[in-house]
Formats: sequence, structure tokens, C-alpha cells
Amino acid sequence: MALNVDHYNRKITYLRVSVTDRCNLRCIYCMPVKDLKLLNHDDILRYEEIMRIIQAAVEAGISKVRLTGGEPLVRRNFTRLASSICAVPGIKDVSITTNGVLLAEKARKIYAAGIRRINVSLDTLDRKKYAAITRRDHFDDVWQGLQIAEEVGFSPIKLNVVAMRGINDDEILQFAELSVRKPYHVRFIEYMPIGHDNQWNPGKYISSDEIKSRLQSLGPLRKVPVLHSANDGPARRYRFDSAKGEIGFISALSNHFCPTCNRLRLTADGRLRPCLFADDEIDIKTPLRAGCSHEELKRLFWEAVERKPKQHHARFAEKGGCQRSMSAIGG
Ligand code: 5AD
Ligand code: SF4
Repeated sequence: MALNVDHYNRKITYLRVSVTDRCNLRCIYCMPVKDLKLLNHDDILRYEEIMRIIQAAVEAGISKVRLTGGEPLVRRNFTRLASSICAVPGIKDVSITTNGVLLAEKARKIYAAGIRRINVSLDTLDRKKYAAITRRDHFDDVWQGLQIAEEVGFSPIKLNVVAMRGINDDEILQFAELSVRKPYHVRFIEYMPIGHDNQWNPGKYISSDEIKSRLQSLGPLRKVPVLHSANDGPARRYRFDSAKGEIGFISALSNHFCPTCNRLRLTADGRLRPCLFADDEIDIKTPLRAGCSHEELKRLFWEAVERKPKQHHARFAEKGGCQRSMSAIGG
């Protein structure tokens, strides 16, 4: 059996790389208002270190990389890293998840670096509500960033919408209509109890099934046939007739996507994380800085593959099962 196939027969081909734990927003479900603990500069992987890890990852079986944060675009010379990764033989797909605040300014450079697929986090279409959710007033910047990303030619453009009852669930239909008008893939993400200060509670949680049934009022939602390639993500995909875009559901809690999980995460401080929801991590930075061989780095990847749990246990009652916030793990 190939060493990038885990105990549950999942082939691990996808690496999510958090390039920084810094962010220019303070989303209520991700960051605390105060006492935010940031990594020391020296603890964050340098670009050269990320590149060495990615080269080993390719040999260990990884062919797809997503760059995340925190907010990846706040890290200096991000496009230098992006183009180096795009140039690695064996990497077939490089994408980015961003909050979009700096997108208007950086979209062209990111595209020129070779990135074609982009996910933008946007939980509301209302400027005031945006400021309440993210604790910063950047709605117009994100919206402009999206228009520019479209002009530049990114495809697909996915919008990540964390669905929160009493906060943005009154906008579900507006988001769905946006997927008809614009070529955006609107993805409703179930609110997850991740990190120790995520303001999650069962009352704010909405399941994908509930959202889907609310969407029925707009007409039939048809399943998008997906080819089962190793590069498929966890979203269940749908579209309205004659829509330019799509609707997706990321049912992190209600519907275990674990059986098809194909990923590992690399945290900004150089740890391999087998599962988003479990605090098990493998330190790859210390051996790397101690001058370990390429073979040893590969071995650490396979160890992370081996340590992937069958499924996560983030259930309603178990708030706080995962201590690190999304900004530190790389969502
Ligand atoms: N629940 C659901 N989604 C979250 N994200 C960050 N924290 C949470 C949470 N607690 C999302 C962000 C971003 C993606 C990387 O993860 O909105 O779109
Ligand atoms: Fe920043 Fe993303 Fe966390 Fe919001 S969810 S604070 S955009 S890292």
C-alpha cells in the first residue's frame, strides 16, 4: 500500500498551508477581542522552510496545496511564495483562502503567480453587519476585491459563508440569489466549535439540511455531478437552473465528511496536523531546523497520514475540543 494511504483507505494528496496566524480582521467565530496570542516571529516558518516542506510533501504524495492563514495576503511577499509553490513539479493545483480585504490590490499579482482558484470569506452582504461580524469596516474592500478577482479571471471564485442563526441566517436567500446572478460558488459552512473563544453555541448553529430546505422557495436545487477525483473537496454541490454559480454545503458537524478526507494541515509554526478537530500535531519545524534529511521530512508526512483519526468527535456538547483557533491552524 502507498504510504500516503491511511488506515481507513483514504489517499492523502492535499496539504493546507497556513502562512501566518496574523489577520487584518477579528471575526467573532475565530478570534478573541483581547488577549490574542500571536506566534513569535521566529516560530513562524520562513518561506525557504515552507518550500523545503512542500518539496518533501510532493514526494510523500501531495499534489494539491491551499494557502491559508490567518490571512495569507497580510504576509510580506506572499506572491513570491505563491509563485515558487506553483513552480514545484508535481504540484498540480495551488489555491488560496483569503478574507478578501487586500484582494483588490493583490488579485493581479496572485493570478500572475499562477493561482487560479480562490476562496473568499464573506458572511454577510450588509456593510454594517459585516463590521459587527469581523469587527472591522472592510466590506467595500472585499466587494471590490471580488469584482477585480472576477475581471482578472479567477475561476472558480468561492464564497465561504459561515451560517449563524440570529446573525446572518436572514441572508441565506440573498446569498443564493447571488449564486444565480454571479459566477460565484456560495458555500454555506456549518458553524464549528473550534478554538477556545469562538462564541459558538448550539443556538447559533444551523445545519446544512435546514439551509437547503429554506432554499427550496427559490426553485429546484439540482445536484452538480462531481467526478470522484482525489482533488474533490468536502462540499456537496448544487445549482439553481440557469444560475451562473453554484451552492455548496460544508457540513462539518451534521454530516461527517471524514470518510472522504484527503488532507493534512501545516500550521504557521511548522506542525503537521492530521485532523482539523483534534489537537494532535507533529512538529516538523524542529527537525527541519536541526538539519534533518529530506527522507526524514517525508517520513514525518507519512507519520501524520498514519495518525489521521477515522473521524472527528466535534459534537454539540463538546465545545472546545479543539484548542487552537482557525487562524492558527489554517482553516
Ligand atoms: N466555524 C466555521 N467556519 C469557520 N471559519 C473560521 N472559523 C470558523 C468556525 N468556527 C472559516 C472562515 C474561513 C474558513 C477558512 O474557515 O470563515 O472562510
Ligand atoms: Fe481572519 Fe479568517 Fe479568522 Fe476572520 S476567520 S479573523 S478573516 S483568520
